[in-house]
Amino acid sequence: MSSIATLNLVYDILRLDEKLILQELRRRSADFRLINLDKAAFNISDLSRDSLEGELFLIRSISHTRSVLIARILEELGALTINSSSAIDLGNNKLLSLLRLARVGLPVPETLFAFSSEVALRAAESVGLGKVPLVIKPVSGSWGRLVSLVCSVEELNLLLKHRSKMESPLMKIYMLQEYIEKPQRDIRIIVVDGEAVAGIYRYAPSGEWRTNTARGGQARPLEIDEELSELSVKACEAIGARYAGVDLIESKSGYRVLEVNVVPEFKNVARVTGVNIAARIVEMLLNERKR
Ligand SMILES: Nc1ncnc2c1ncn2[C@@H]1O[C@H](COP(=O)(O)OP(=O)(O)O)[C@@H](O)[C@H]1O
Ligand SMILES: [Mg+2]
Repeated sequence: MSSIATLNLVYDILRLDEKLILQELRRRSADFRLINLDKAAFNISDLSRDSLEGELFLIRSISHTRSVLIARILEELGALTINSSSAIDLGNNKLLSLLRLARVGLPVPETLFAFSSEVALRAAESVGLGKVPLVIKPVSGSWGRLVSLVCSVEELNLLLKHRSKMESPLMKIYMLQEYIEKPQRDIRIIVVDGEAVAGIYRYAPSGEWRTNTARGGQARPLEIDEELSELSVKACEAIGARYAGVDLIESKSGYRVLEVNVVPEFKNVARVTGVNIAARIVEMLLNERKR
């Protein structure tokens, strides 16, 4: 007897990634339901009588906030979600996740954080800003948005002034990171169920230091060596993610794990490497069903 009765895919926009997953589900004639968060209304009293025990939900919302909330609600009702709300929450927070990674001994960039701009500025001075560049980034975000390189105290000061005009409370948390001199590229490894299944280099376009493919970074296939495999699988485990896109950079003294994307886009890795990542994800879901 299988413990999971129904498979569900929760989404808001059907990107190519979600379409690839659907294609693999259909290819296997798997029963599943599609839940479009933009089309659904939920009623607390109905929900409170509901049990979702035995249901499995793959969370594919592009919004961090929505992903955590819907996963948390579904778990509250007894469902199993992939990734879990706690993994999504942790992975979406760059500070918390780097702390977790560092605690299990994984190499991460030197990172400072502060809750006031004055303290952030002083901390940046104390680590030598001006002699060395620093990266300032939002605690939560993606596609390289608002990730900035600052080379002097004056530049940081100006950036902090701009931030002070932003409404979001997230912009009042200051995360500063050593700038890692990497080759013009970084690494994205897709891990599914404890296995590093495929990876790419992402080359930054000229004049850009951020390598996000969303910013025009070029993807090239990568041979996953043992060290990369171990680092990315461990990073995924540390966050509690069943599958993820692990970003790493090559520093002069070895790899650094930059972040763990817990609702990962994988289409570029699939396209460039030819690895059917959607199939691996679907196999993970179907195996969960059989357990
Ligand atoms: N400390 C750093 N040193 C060098 N490059 C960095 C550093 N942090 C980020 N980058 C570059 O900027 C990109 C975006 O940063 P990241 O922290 O991954 O934010 P996002 O979640 O928006 O992708 C990375 O893919 C990497 O190429
Ligand atoms: Mg990133």
